[in-house]
Amino acid sequence: MSEIRALSYFVAQIDDLQKWRDYAENVLGMMTSDAPGGGLYIKMDDRPFRMLVLEGAPDQYLASGWELASKSAFDAMLARLQALDVEYRVQDAEFCRQRGVNEAVVLHDPCGNRHELTWGYLSDCAPFVSPQGVPRFLTGDMGLGHTVLPAPNFDACASFYRDVLGFEISDIFNFRPDPSGPAIRIHFLHCANARHHSLAIAEYDVPSKCVHVMVEVDSMTEVGRAHDRRIAQGVPLSATLGQHLNDKMTSFYMKTPSGFDLEYGWGGLQVDWDKHTAFEFTSVSIWGHDFGVGQQGEQQ
Ligand SMILES: [Fe+2]
Repeated sequence: MSEIRALSYFVAQIDDLQKWRDYAENVLGMMTSDAPGGGLYIKMDDRPFRMLVLEGAPDQYLASGWELASKSAFDAMLARLQALDVEYRVQDAEFCRQRGVNEAVVLHDPCGNRHELTWGYLSDCAPFVSPQGVPRFLTGDMGLGHTVLPAPNFDACASFYRDVLGFEISDIFNFRPDPSGPAIRIHFLHCANARHHSLAIAEYDVPSKCVHVMVEVDSMTEVGRAHDRRIAQGVPLSATLGQHLNDKMTSFYMKTPSGFDLEYGWGGLQVDWDKHTAFEFTSVSIWGHDFGVGQQGEQQ
């Protein structure tokens, strides 16, 4: 099992922070505040932030923040990076203050996706009080949710996540848009928590540098209420309501202000990895999840 405990945060970039402030508060139902050193904190639990948005161009996803459980786990990971000749950069105090961690390093996968490995998060124990009355998001030891990253150079990336960062395959989806053509591979990967996948890698590129990020609420009611807010705020739908086959998540997908998608769901599988058997599936959802609506630019 990986030393990585969970996806603790992500970093996105946008030309105008107000777009994310409005989206977080009015659509996601999360809290916002100014981040130290600039940028926007988006808070979804008792931590100061789970999303950090920085001002800049272009609008895109910038980085995934991965948490190690302890200083010794962090040091063991750095020793492994050194042994495998993987380059990383130790970050300074100002960087760590903005990320709210004790120590951090930055590294890139073979496809150029940026990762920030950290340990020792700072907590002010301030409660989460949703501006939209969302009771809670499922986070804690399972992290903020999951992220799906573009991996056109798939074999190199798959090996990087398994052999360097220590992720393990939960299961595999080989997508064939043309039944007689080649498969587009998606690997769903887990680390040291019960969430079915904290990361997935997809064998294609996307301009926003993230396929989607998932956040999870504790009831179908809250998914429906978020969907109502999406409509009220005119946020484009990317995929209709549906239920995934592998992690059983019931969710819909919509655009974020930085151009990548966000999956808003509930009921995701929590796995006892000692009893799990990896498998390959041929349909991504049991029902729903029509991504055609996003490609057509439909609003509802
Ligand atoms: Fe997802």
